[in-house]
Amino acid sequence: NRELRNGQFIGSLDCGTTSTRFIIFDKRAKIIAEHQTEFEQILPHAGWHEHDPEALVEAMTECINKAVEKLEWMGWSRKSIKGIGITNQRETTVAWSRSTGKPLCNAIVWDDSRTLGVVREYEKKLDEEGMDIDDEEEDLKGVPEEVEIGTGGEDAAFGEKGEIVEDGEGVTEKVGKAMEGLGLAGRGKPNGTAHHKKRKGKEGMVDVTGIPLSTYFSAIKLRWMLDHQRPVHEAHEADDLMFGTVDTWLVYNLTGRENGGLHIMDVTNASRTLLISLKTLQWHPPLLRFFGIRPSVLPKIVSSSEVYGTISESIHTPLTGVPIAGIVGDQQAALVGNKCLKKGEAKCTYGTGAFVLFNTGEECVRSEYGLISTVAFQAGPDAKPVYALEGSIAVAGSAIKWLRDQINLIEESSDMDILAGSVADTGGVYFVTAFSGLLAPYWDRDASGTIIGLTSYTTSAHIARATLEAVCFQTRAVLDVIEKESETKLETLKVDGGVTNSDLAMQLQANIGGFNVARPAMRESTALGSALLAAHALKLFGWDLTKPETLADVNTAGVHIFEPELDEKDRRKAVRGWEKAVNRAKKWHE
Ligand code: G3P
Repeated sequence: NRELRNGQFIGSLDCGTTSTRFIIFDKRAKIIAEHQTEFEQILPHAGWHEHDPEALVEAMTECINKAVEKLEWMGWSRKSIKGIGITNQRETTVAWSRSTGKPLCNAIVWDDSRTLGVVREYEKKLDEEGMDIDDEEEDLKGVPEEVEIGTGGEDAAFGEKGEIVEDGEGVTEKVGKAMEGLGLAGRGKPNGTAHHKKRKGKEGMVDVTGIPLSTYFSAIKLRWMLDHQRPVHEAHEADDLMFGTVDTWLVYNLTGRENGGLHIMDVTNASRTLLISLKTLQWHPPLLRFFGIRPSVLPKIVSSSEVYGTISESIHTPLTGVPIAGIVGDQQAALVGNKCLKKGEAKCTYGTGAFVLFNTGEECVRSEYGLISTVAFQAGPDAKPVYALEGSIAVAGSAIKWLRDQINLIEESSDMDILAGSVADTGGVYFVTAFSGLLAPYWDRDASGTIIGLTSYTTSAHIARATLEAVCFQTRAVLDVIEKESETKLETLKVDGGVTNSDLAMQLQANIGGFNVARPAMRESTALGSALLAAHALKLFGWDLTKPETLADVNTAGVHIFEPELDEKDRRKAVRGWEKAVNRAKKWHE
């Protein structure tokens, strides 16, 4: 029964690929209280990766409840939390029923590669039929009648009870057949009412969306669900389906799914779906027709910083009534959290994967060398969007986890530094960690994980060191492209994420990159980014994202700079070795 003090704090809910955390920040971005929990990774077959959407909700409530408990234990009242921001693993796709509010199947995670067959099918369709590209005047009203939805009458793609019938092997062929069974070939015909200009081939898709057809993005995952999960297919037919990324699902629950929770998606997450035009930042009818997706499934697209609603009583947290005021995909959040608010600033977050984002300002720059264009953030419904070029690397921390959990090379992730640091170099070993193909800048979905350069001299220490180096080489490759496109030389890379706890990995990054690596003491940049966006909307702490000087006091303590210690000749030689190894890993599954 202590008297609790009232302060002013901002909360951030960060739902990543392997864990969720809720962090409570003060006005200098000092962490006042936090709680983190892991949730189950469901890996039913090689290349498949799922989450139980209900487990994501449980992890969220556990984190909020425990962090607020800690806050109160420290003598602060829960009323001190003035609002929350949300940030999330992107692209992961959730499907649920409007009438029951319950998930219709497990979420398909961003790095799941089961949809290779879907991608190939749609590439063929793009080549053969092309896609409308320039009818942005058209709104969504006319679309439902025009989209030819698969008949689904035959059980072509469903098991007896609507379960998945494919196994891990031969999925590609079966998926292709299943789609034929559902009449895919006839889908996506333009309605002929608007002015359509057809564009054939992959480039048209990239022109409209900024991203390529890839297993990575949400529309492909949703299409797979529609064709292989009977409950999803039926809900779609009955206009009972709700689609969302993880932000959408969490907000729907936080705002009370029993009473028709909010169905919204922030624009940064929407820019990863393959369903919006980067020009209009709205759902793009030709893309919906192309993928055969009804507009009724879509959430409303919102900015990354505004009061969307408040936390409902029904979700049972101590934060009932607290405004939700920021939503942003986690990599964009880290860009904001690292205060890369101006054109030309870049960061790399080393989480499950590693993601380099380079702020291109209000201009949506198109890459010629394999980077994707994406929305970085939109600081309010009337604010101009800020764009970024992104280099996504699918495997970073997950390779360390793999060494720990599947190969038993180390017991704890923290053992990596000791093992990898026990040798001076990799002894000529390269490890191309292409577990689900290679993303930027190589974009080879047929690449395979490859360890090369082995001799009888090789030890587990060399392999551990090569694992750390793999992410550094890929980051270097992405930054090479960014430097080429922007014609600027990067002096310092701002970094955050789990792998940055490793001093050795950061030193290797500086050596292989040939640039300085700046690591702040408080490295929860992702959570901080969504907190900044929420505080901006609530006009809290004077934080204003349009005026970076208002953030001068935010997270300034203890930045460690790692400087390159390798001379340029040796660095180039190492990079050449890496590129040779990548060439060996490429096209393995073709
Ligand atoms: O695009 C996927 C990305 O958002 C996942 O982030 O932090 O879970 O590796 P993370």
